[in-house]
Formats: sequence, C-alpha cells, structure tokens
Amino acid sequence: MKFENILTKYNDGLTTITINRPSKLNALNRDTINELHRAFKTADEDRNTKVIIITGSGDKAFVAGADISEFADFSVAEGENLASEGQALLFDFVANLSTPVIAAVNGFALGGGLELAMSAHFRVASDNAKMGLPEVSLGVIPGYGGTQRLPQLIGKGRAMEMIMTAGMVDAQKAFDWGLVNHVTTSEELIGLAEKIASKIMRNSSVAIAAAISAINSGFEDGENGFDTEVTEFGKCFGTADFKEGTTAFLEKRRADFPGE
Ligand code: COA
Repeated sequence: MKFENILTKYNDGLTTITINRPSKLNALNRDTINELHRAFKTADEDRNTKVIIITGSGDKAFVAGADISEFADFSVAEGENLASEGQALLFDFVANLSTPVIAAVNGFALGGGLELAMSAHFRVASDNAKMGLPEVSLGVIPGYGGTQRLPQLIGKGRAMEMIMTAGMVDAQKAFDWGLVNHVTTSEELIGLAEKIASKIMRNSSVAIAAAISAINSGFEDGENGFDTEVTEFGKCFGTADFKEGTTAFLEKRRADFPGE
C-alpha cells in the first residue's frame, strides 16, 4: 500500500505505523488522518497482525497536533465536521479496534497528538516526551475526544487543569498520573513497546478482542460494561482459542492459539 505521510512495517505479528512528517512535527493533516485510517484498518483486518504500534518519526515529536494551517479559516459547520469526521475515521476507530494498539510517544504529543495517543489502548513514552492539550490557547477546545479520554485516564480535576492552562506535562508526571504506563529512553522506546507486544502475542487474540470490547463498553453512554462482560465472556466458550487454551493448561503445555 502506498502512503505519502506515514510508514508501515510488518514483522513477526507486529505492524508498526510511523507518522512521517517530521518537518511539521508529524502534525495531523487531513491526508495523514485518511492514510492512518487505511493503515489501521488494513492491519486490523490482517490475521497475521496481533499488535499495532503507532509512533512518530524523528526524535522530537510523536504528533504536535492537528494541522493548524488546515482549519484556521473554518466555519462553525466545518469545525463540527472536522471533529466528527476525525473521530469516526481515526480516534474512535483506533479506540475500538479489535487489535491491541500501543502508542509509543517519542516526543511532543500535543492536541490531536495526545488525543491519538489516548485513543490507543495504552501508552509508553520516552523520557523527553511532553504531553498536553493546548487548544484553548488557540481559542478552541480539544475535538478528537480529548475532553472525554483525558479525564477518564487521569481524573477530572487534573484534566480540567491541563486543558484550562493549555500546559504540558513531562513524561514522569504523565507516568505518575497514569497517562502513560512506562517511561524509558528514546533509544529504548520502540524496543520496550515491542517487548510488551510480544507478551500480548502469546495470548489469545480472540479473547483480547473480547476484553477490549468489554473494557470500552463501560465508557460508552447507554451501555452497561458488566452486561457486555457477561456476553463477551460467554462467547469465548464457543471459540477454538478457548478450547486450545484450556486443553493446553490441562496438558501442561504452552497454548498454540489458532486465533478463532
Ligand atoms: N500544525 C501545523 N504545523 C505545525 C504544528 C501544528 N499543530 N506544530 C508544529 N508545526 C510546524 C511549525 O509550523 C513548523 O513549520 P515551519 O518550519 O514550516 O514553520 C514546524 O512544524 C516546526 O515547529 P516549530 O514551532 O518551529 O518547532 P518548535 O520546536 O519551536 O516548537 C512546539 C515545538 C510543539 C512547541 C510548537 O511547534 C507548537 O506549539 N506547535 C503547535 C502545538 C499545538 O498547539 N497543537 C494543538 C493543535 S490543535
């Protein structure tokens, strides 16, 4: 597949997607969002891909936000459309993928960049990473899910302060607040994400997809996460992965999941 703004690489069950506009600090313009949608969809539909890592190219930025030059003269209707289209194509899309997505935050993750990292299922960061939602400094609010996912991850009061001050937190504070799960050096960041990915890959991808669905359900309006858990739990009993996982345990061997 041909892309202008991103790179994709597949190796041994892992697809790595790298946003590749380093001269613009990997800012998300419309084309990049469309390409990311295609790349995530393709990886999710690829049975060989068990985990996806999303990162940014260069050593300075994961993503420095939505591309401000593209929306500076938008109308009210265009602004609303920008947010709803972006959420559907990328941010909600990634959050609800069946394949686990790890964001490797390798520098600035601002605005849409932090919103993309928060859409991933969890995050690891390099020690030079800086994260924030600076939209109110531009006279707008986060529009790609940031007002919802930031309080879910770090709590309402901290999210209020970060959004109101438009300030950035460093990697250590992001770790202390639960925004990222691990912090390491820039050099070791991708290796760490790959190590976690390889642990995930040993498990049933079908059960992992069910777990993602149950966890996300608790954050959806009008859905009862406990009910979703019961349904997803029950469905697992009809899968070949469940048969293999339980049989392997009883036979004292490592499971070799068929992924169905
Ligand atoms: N949209 C469009 N272009 C962006 C961008 C964004 N969100 N963030 C950075 N860029 C571009 C800059 O315009 C610059 O391009 P140029 O060289 O053609 O002028 C290039 O990326 C490098 O950025 P620069 O500002 O020169 O780097 P810096 O090291 O001085 O500052 C930041 C880094 C991240 C602090 C700064 O780029 C910034 O504040 N960016 C905007 C962050 C933001 O508000 N994001 C939320 C958007 S809703």
